[in-house]
Amino acid sequence: MNIVCYGLQWGDEGKGKVTTYLSREFDYVVRYSGGSNAGHTVNYGEFKLVHHLVPSFDIRGNTKAYIANGVVVDLDVLIKEIEEIKKIGFDVYDRINISSLTHIVLPVHKMLDEKLEIAKGEKAVGTTKRGIGPAYADKVHRIGLRLVDLFDKETALEKLKFISKMYKNLYGIEWDDYEILFENFEKLSKLIVPPLEMKEEFKNVNVLFEGTQGVLLDIDMGSYPYVTGSYCNTTGVESGLGFPIKIDKRIGVFKAYVTRVGEGPFPTELFGEEAEKIRIAGREFGATTGRPRRCGWLDLPILRYAIETSGCDEMIMTKADILSGLEKVKVGIRYLSNGRKFEIPNDISMIDKVTVEYIEFNGWKNLEDDNFAKFVDFIERETGLKIAYISTGEKIDDIRKV
Ligand code: IMP
Repeated sequence: MNIVCYGLQWGDEGKGKVTTYLSREFDYVVRYSGGSNAGHTVNYGEFKLVHHLVPSFDIRGNTKAYIANGVVVDLDVLIKEIEEIKKIGFDVYDRINISSLTHIVLPVHKMLDEKLEIAKGEKAVGTTKRGIGPAYADKVHRIGLRLVDLFDKETALEKLKFISKMYKNLYGIEWDDYEILFENFEKLSKLIVPPLEMKEEFKNVNVLFEGTQGVLLDIDMGSYPYVTGSYCNTTGVESGLGFPIKIDKRIGVFKAYVTRVGEGPFPTELFGEEAEKIRIAGREFGATTGRPRRCGWLDLPILRYAIETSGCDEMIMTKADILSGLEKVKVGIRYLSNGRKFEIPNDISMIDKVTVEYIEFNGWKNLEDDNFAKFVDFIERETGLKIAYISTGEKIDDIRKV
């Protein structure tokens, strides 16, 4: 049984916690896109982890992890993360594999990310400055460095010097401190495998694919240009793996409200006190950058769009507990644009010019409250999909099957 668990909004839907919970039933958890821009917070109760590159598998169990070549890897971040887990008492070095074709995020990528954002001025995307866009761009420019390139130091040095030359000539960025890269590679070299080895391995096991960011941040289907550099939609699984695989179920995760970090359209955005209330209660600050997240009401047109775009089979709702105690809870049900009504945007680029029609619900005291049941029924009816699990709190096991 192969399942994808991914985000139906602009990221930060709580996928890390949900994936970790589900991982116990799987042999592997696989990351197929993104890089250390992701920040998946997992609260085990006795300790907390923030995953940037290590897939969200329950480190206390036997599940293994694989980082596929759709991911761009900052070796420094990956090693630090594995070492942090070791400090807690779990050595996961022999439970993680990485595709040999994975591209490496280099210091020049982070420098260029910063420089591009400054140069864009008002049009800045608000990236995490983790070098993600430039690393993917270099992959496409065909000057990227892959893990497999580091096995032969002489050839690797040649490639690195070429990259340095390109960056100096094109962007005025200087970097020639390569040694740390080789040191890091040494530490990780035993984890590196060719993708076809994993294809063989995945023939007889259960795999859980962990999405990063969300459908609305997908490079093609998201709110371009305010998106990330990768295929974080479910469509990214096969390209990220590098080989086809049968997916049995696509489980989309959404928050009972919406958040977004960085710039870009956000039709149901709240401002002032109303936004602050949710931000504080939901601890809506970026797990990677610490930036305050923009907050707003649940947006059904966007949710329906993400469901359609990703082929969602069932959903998981998170963070409804954060809204407990509010007198009223609103949900955006359709958009109005040029005198027409839209239940779902057929073209995502329309969303920066729409006005939103809302429906108002009586708030709930807790998740046992009838008012909350009405909210859940409404979303299921409006999306035509079942909400299979509801997350009821921060810790891994704070979740109930519906
Ligand atoms: P980048 O991925 O760093 O290039 O950033 C591009 C956009 O995606 C920015 O708006 C980021 O804030 C957003 N983004 C990237 N990763 C995440 C994430 O894990 N959660 C939420 N937003 C993200």
